[in-house]
Amino acid sequence: AQSCMANVKKSGLTVGTSPDYPPYESLNDRNEIVGFDIDLMNAIGKKMGMKVKVVGQGFDGLIPALISKKIDVIAAGMTVTAERKKAVNFTLPYDNSANVIMARKENLKYGTAASLAGRNVGSQIGTVQEQIVQGIKGASSKAFNLYTDAAVALQTRQIDAMVVDKTVADQFLKTYPDLRITGTLARNAKAMAVRKDCGDVVNRMNAAIIEMRKSGELAALTKKWLK
Ligand code: ARG
Repeated sequence: AQSCMANVKKSGLTVGTSPDYPPYESLNDRNEIVGFDIDLMNAIGKKMGMKVKVVGQGFDGLIPALISKKIDVIAAGMTVTAERKKAVNFTLPYDNSANVIMARKENLKYGTAASLAGRNVGSQIGTVQEQIVQGIKGASSKAFNLYTDAAVALQTRQIDAMVVDKTVADQFLKTYPDLRITGTLARNAKAMAVRKDCGDVVNRMNAAIIEMRKSGELAALTKKWLK
């Protein structure tokens, strides 16, 4: 079997992300992709002794891009799920947070999944949140290309609520003062993903993550971006 490590050593690590998910990844005012996942990947690349190049694209195309070798790593606040595990190889998790319901401040009544029956509920295409919304009895799922578009739609009353990671909701609250967190759903773990046949790359990334846990670097990044 060909070694993935040998290939990425030559070309560097091309990291795919969907920069609509602050604080994990978003575009700054100079249109650069910044965030927790970017700092984390740069630190991991440094420990592995290789260049890291971050490219932005739609979230739902990330796993296909990985499988077709357009990218080597997904770093996109991606939740570890049994279904995705069939297609990709996940690293150790680097974050664990709850999903929440967000609504406008006059709708604090949307506190549970059941309270969303008959409502238009937003998320992003291809995410676990889209699946959660699709599973809510009586709710109408409105999934957007970008998570930021879901937040705009909620603020501008095109949808009634949205389901999103709490860490991301906390960021949207800063931009949209009329929004509130109205309920809390199940927690989920996030990790980076590589191709199934790239176990050697995952092992090296995991070694870097463990090193960063021990040294306090991971805690410092978590504090900088996620707290
Ligand atoms: N954690 C969710 C998932 O894995 C949403 C991730 C969305 N990430 C993004 N960069 N837009 O499905």
